Amino acid sequence: MGRAKCGETRPSFLSQCLSSNFAAPLTPPLPRKHVGSREGLVNPWGNQLVTDLRSSEVVVCEFFNPNLLSSLLPSFHGFLGSPLELFFGLLGSLNLTAYPTSPVLGSWRGEEVKEEEEMGSFGRLARRAVETDAPVMVKELLRGNKDVMSLAQGVVYWQPPEAALNKIKEIVWEPSISKYGSDDGLPELREALLEKLRRENKLTNSSVMVTSGANQAFVNLVLTLCDAGDSVVMFAPYYFNSYMSFQMTGVTDILVGASNPETLHPDVDWLEKTLRENNPIPKLVSVVNPGNPSGAFIPKPMLQKISELCRNAGAWLVVDNTYEYFMYDGMEHYCLEGNHIVNLFSFSKAYGMMGWRVGYIAYPNEADGLHAQLLKVQDNIPICASIVGQRLALYALEAGPEWIRERVRDLVKNRELLMEAMSPLGEDAVKGGEGAIYLWAKLPEKCSDDFEVVRWLANKHGVAVIPGSASGGPGYIRVSFGGLKESDTRLAAERLRRGLQELVTEGMVQ
Ligand SMILES: Cc1ncc(COP(=O)(O)O)c(C=O)c1O
Repeated sequence: MGRAKCGETRPSFLSQCLSSNFAAPLTPPLPRKHVGSREGLVNPWGNQLVTDLRSSEVVVCEFFNPNLLSSLLPSFHGFLGSPLELFFGLLGSLNLTAYPTSPVLGSWRGEEVKEEEEMGSFGRLARRAVETDAPVMVKELLRGNKDVMSLAQGVVYWQPPEAALNKIKEIVWEPSISKYGSDDGLPELREALLEKLRRENKLTNSSVMVTSGANQAFVNLVLTLCDAGDSVVMFAPYYFNSYMSFQMTGVTDILVGASNPETLHPDVDWLEKTLRENNPIPKLVSVVNPGNPSGAFIPKPMLQKISELCRNAGAWLVVDNTYEYFMYDGMEHYCLEGNHIVNLFSFSKAYGMMGWRVGYIAYPNEADGLHAQLLKVQDNIPICASIVGQRLALYALEAGPEWIRERVRDLVKNRELLMEAMSPLGEDAVKGGEGAIYLWAKLPEKCSDDFEVVRWLANKHGVAVIPGSASGGPGYIRVSFGGLKESDTRLAAERLRRGLQELVTEGMVQ
């Protein structure tokens, strides 16, 4: 796996198109050096980025398939609204060709691109945002397809504990619910979480900050621990929101390691080499355990090894434990603690609280200044997590882990149904699912365009899954087994089986 200089090696398709539309000759949107490439790069619009980025006099080619793009436009969200569809349709007739970087720098900054700089043009938007990958939005994926069953979104089908919801009904008129709370979180919730961390996660030397979900927790950490231009490490297939958090905060030197194709565990030898040889040393290593999108669970000795490598190198280890309760087949979740380790948690899946936006960071007591810096970031983003959400989290904790485990046990049947549904892909094609709510499946070689397959499955077979490219895994799909009850999963599984059977035997017949 190579180094992905995100903002640089992935010149935004949008900015390319825009600059080519507004300026003649074609102007590069990125008057910078390109130094690496991510293999098999496909952006969320489905166009292949073919890059040869080893020299500073770089040539970037972007092959644009207008048919594919227009077919995907209704499916993917970003800053593309429907009025832009026409615009991009027109752009389809443009032939984007290779351009040299430096000779046209002047025109990027000069008169010719004046329109780029006018208010209301894309040129006025931050490259940091424009050049960040767009998330695959499941609702958009399903738009216009009324009868599509979703195995796409990473959600659970249950609601928060009934008793907890009933208590919320009683407290909404309390004035404190509508006021700001302390940045760190409600004291009573933090106390309950510290107790939970001690009892369940064996974290005895950690402090807690309550956030608006684990995603915001991750952004807080990136802003607190990394500077723009720092290098960081993650492993493919990775959690796409973490990748985007790095990109949009300017941490564009993302070193993406491989995972073992059999186990989907991170390549620890690669990490060792990377931490040893990379100068400057990567600032942060990020893992999700159990994983999204893989559903793979990193065994304790392996995470301990990763932790040791990070400690010796002076890198932070951030572990996202969003799926801590989602463990199967007798495996038990664990956490590690150390003054270089930060653990993230979420109420979203465990307690069916996706929309209430509550998560938390467990960070080491002994890290100098970390608390103060985290507070600065927190105070500028949510100020505090929603108070009513925090109160619900507090009441939900009273239901306890057994309440969650009862529900998680039922997911085993869903997983089995979907594993069976994917059997047409071949014996060795489906991996993961040891934990979390995901299976990770390799598409047949002859139909390995995952975006195309996802669209085709939704349109023709009425079932939605996530393209692996979104997580750095082109040629794969992610299938979630958490979002539907067993009866619905059964129906979705039948559709998926039919679709995959057809894919394998006949290809994507329209
Ligand atoms: C690994 C991981 N981390 C974080 C999140 C987001 O969690 P939250 O809703 O708490 O922001 C998700 C949601 O899919 C996830 O899969």
